[in-house]
Amino acid sequence: MKSLVTGGAGFIGSHLVDALVAAGDTVVVLDDLSTGRLANLAGVADRVTFLRGSVAVRADVDQAMAGCDRVFHQAAVASVPATIDAPVDTHFVNLGGTLNVLESARAAGVQRVVFASSAAVYGETDGTACVEAATPRPQSPYAVEKLAAEHYVRVWAPLYGLPTVALRYFNVFGPRQDPSSPYSGVISIFADRLRRGLVPTIFGDGGQTRDFVYVADVVRANLAAGALDAPSGLVCNVGRGESTSLNALYGHLAALLGGPATPGYQPVRAGDIRHSLADISVARAALGYAPTVSVADGLAALVAGG
Ligand code: NAD
Ligand code: UD1
Repeated sequence: MKSLVTGGAGFIGSHLVDALVAAGDTVVVLDDLSTGRLANLAGVADRVTFLRGSVAVRADVDQAMAGCDRVFHQAAVASVPATIDAPVDTHFVNLGGTLNVLESARAAGVQRVVFASSAAVYGETDGTACVEAATPRPQSPYAVEKLAAEHYVRVWAPLYGLPTVALRYFNVFGPRQDPSSPYSGVISIFADRLRRGLVPTIFGDGGQTRDFVYVADVVRANLAAGALDAPSGLVCNVGRGESTSLNALYGHLAALLGGPATPGYQPVRAGDIRHSLADISVARAALGYAPTVSVADGLAALVAGG
């Protein structure tokens, strides 16, 4: 099996590449290295074909797609605030790039496209678990881009007979999540600041909640989606189904890494969602998905460097 992983030098993509290589796949990575790093692929460098290029450029996608059986489309500008700062640029990557991947896959006769969508599509909720049938209420350019891209992915199945799956990841964490920008995932930022003896900042009162899911579980969901018999535009949540407040998250990490009892607080971030929690019944039924790593164990593994 030959698999293309777009965004394969990034946090989630590189863990997926490791798993595909371990399963015996021939793997091609297309990545522009805007946030990804070649170091993330160091362990498999001799077994992966790496192409530096953009999903926003059709010729780059076609080159990477040649001869592939399936595609795991992870490449995107993954930060909500980054899309608020530059919505036109991120539109062409997050939406235009997905359309390029679908059209290139269709032209190449690919058997399966698995797309990294996001819990952000749901928008504001009352804190109850999100079900896929709920009406999405995106509230940032990022969420609009992911939702529109997801619609393309879903529609390409019945329209063109291209088997697709869209996985709505909740808040993924684990090793290799890059903490180096203010746009990075909160766990990587908190851990990095605590390690350097700096006080982390919570935007808002810390009562906002997220469903944090360990990267290994997200990889398992992708592998299951990539192996489904006849997916036809399946859309499903990938989280743990467990809610953690930012204050509780900070408490966990400060206990593991040492740090002040309370972090700094700043105003709520624009475009932020208050609560985000997954109902994972569809993933359980359709993919046999069951999260295996608790938040506490995942944080401990992250801190231990593994
Ligand atoms: P990441 O930034 O580590 O990975 C994204 C990768 O895509 C990077 O390697 C980056 O260099 C690459 N990339 C960006 N623009 C590109 C372009 N134009 N062409 C080619 N490559 C490009 O982020 P991640 O957390 O690993 O996210 C992976 C995917 O999962 C993204 O689609 C993201 O939107 C989605 N997602 C992530 C989370 C999360 O909590 N991390 C949650 C929901 C969805
Ligand atoms: C994250 C992902 C996004 C994904 C979504 C799915 C990243 C960078 N973003 O968005 O790709 O689609 O989950 O649910 O991986 N916060 C602080 N202090 C900080 C940084 C963040 O308090 O220093 C807060 C934010 O205001 C927010 C929460 O932490 O309330 C989570 O923020 P972040 O990690 O950026 O993730 P999301 O915006 O939820």
